Amino acid sequence: SRAHRGALLHFLDDPGNDPEPRDGSLEYVEDGLLILQNGRVVATGPAQELLPRMPEGTPVTHWQGGLILPGFIDTHVHMPQLGVMASYGAQLLDWLETYTFPHEARFSDGDWARAEALRFTDLLLAYGTTSGLVFCTSHAASVDALFEAAESRGMGLTAGKVMMDRNAPDNLTDTTRGSYDDSLALLQKWHGHGRQRYAITPRFAATSTPEQLTLAGKLAADHPDVMVQTHWAENTGEIQWISDLFPERHSYLDVYDHYGLLGDHTVLAHGIHIDDRDRQRLAETGTRIAFCPTSNTFLGSGLFDFRSAREAGVTVGLASDVGGGTSLSMLTTMAEAYKVCRLRGQTLTPWQAFYLATLGNARVLQQADQTGSFQPGRHADFVVLDEGTSPALTMKQPYSHTLAETLFNLMILGDDRAIAATVVAGEIRYQRPDSPTAPTPQ
Ligand code: GUN
Ligand code: FE
Repeated sequence: SRAHRGALLHFLDDPGNDPEPRDGSLEYVEDGLLILQNGRVVATGPAQELLPRMPEGTPVTHWQGGLILPGFIDTHVHMPQLGVMASYGAQLLDWLETYTFPHEARFSDGDWARAEALRFTDLLLAYGTTSGLVFCTSHAASVDALFEAAESRGMGLTAGKVMMDRNAPDNLTDTTRGSYDDSLALLQKWHGHGRQRYAITPRFAATSTPEQLTLAGKLAADHPDVMVQTHWAENTGEIQWISDLFPERHSYLDVYDHYGLLGDHTVLAHGIHIDDRDRQRLAETGTRIAFCPTSNTFLGSGLFDFRSAREAGVTVGLASDVGGGTSLSMLTTMAEAYKVCRLRGQTLTPWQAFYLATLGNARVLQQADQTGSFQPGRHADFVVLDEGTSPALTMKQPYSHTLAETLFNLMILGDDRAIAATVVAGEIRYQRPDSPTAPTPQ
């Protein structure tokens, strides 16, 4: 076994969204020890208590001044859209047509797809993200490329081939039958292959024929432990288009419901322009929403109603939605989520924000028994944060921090510069070169 020492914080349950976290919802140890064996967590607790009980010679890595948290999880992000970030002046439908579809078409080139997939996984790690639910492109090779990249970094991702057989350029659309055959073959190849998991991925209802949605629903019904991911109710023009395409359905959500695509294995990105009936159906079916604040503000899509979703009992995760989103950083994503809540007269506490980005998102992906906290048996996926690595974070110093203030400072002012190191299944996979939080073996 081996151990990592530093300030330790992880959630055991939803802390709520009040100024004080719910009792028993988190563990914080100022001088803590995280004990690992074979890449998994064995124990956490105060260093002073645990150190004397460890076998002589157990290696301990001391992250002096660092805050050790479970690795961030991103519940909605597009591997092939790094190159689409910061595309100027468009809302969703124009953005897809002008920038996104042409860029995704490049992934028909397998070499390009492999290079971009590696760049993507390495960037996730540099931003402190150790897991996530990921869109590839409509090309089967893009899925192989991503899972191979994840595997080579020891990461577990959930990802799938985009199904899209209409309303997009010919060089990006698939065929109805081909999309089913490819998805099934990829699912059989990758789902449960090490830490990798497949996700059935119709892009959104506008780019799938009813026949393709039927086949996506069949895949979901035949594989109840496989996630489904798609986009929903992001933009008013999109919603109008869906009602034109599916006049027989009473709402956008009803389209997905009709084709058997809702359930506790489904993550719908966005869900901005929705009503109480939608929320009730989401809660009833266990369907999850990925809240994508940097994307929603950047594309001018709208302001997600976080409080109403919570109050209706809908499970909500937090996501970057890169390349509609403007940062892979889950810290930046928390900041933008907070601002969206403020613009709606709502709030997002630092407890709730850090919960969402870790255990909350692991629950959204049904991976809380694998990652997202330091409960014994979980993979040792963690990130070491350090305010000292980032000029933006030190502007307020000297400054006396409570833990709530430290977390709030990190989420509002922090970004990739606050990531001193990222560890996946016990292996250090990223280390910020100029970090003062260098690990000292002892
Ligand atoms: N809706 C359909 N496709 C996409 C996409 O790639 N990004 C976003 N943000 N919304 C979508
Ligand atoms: Fe998206």
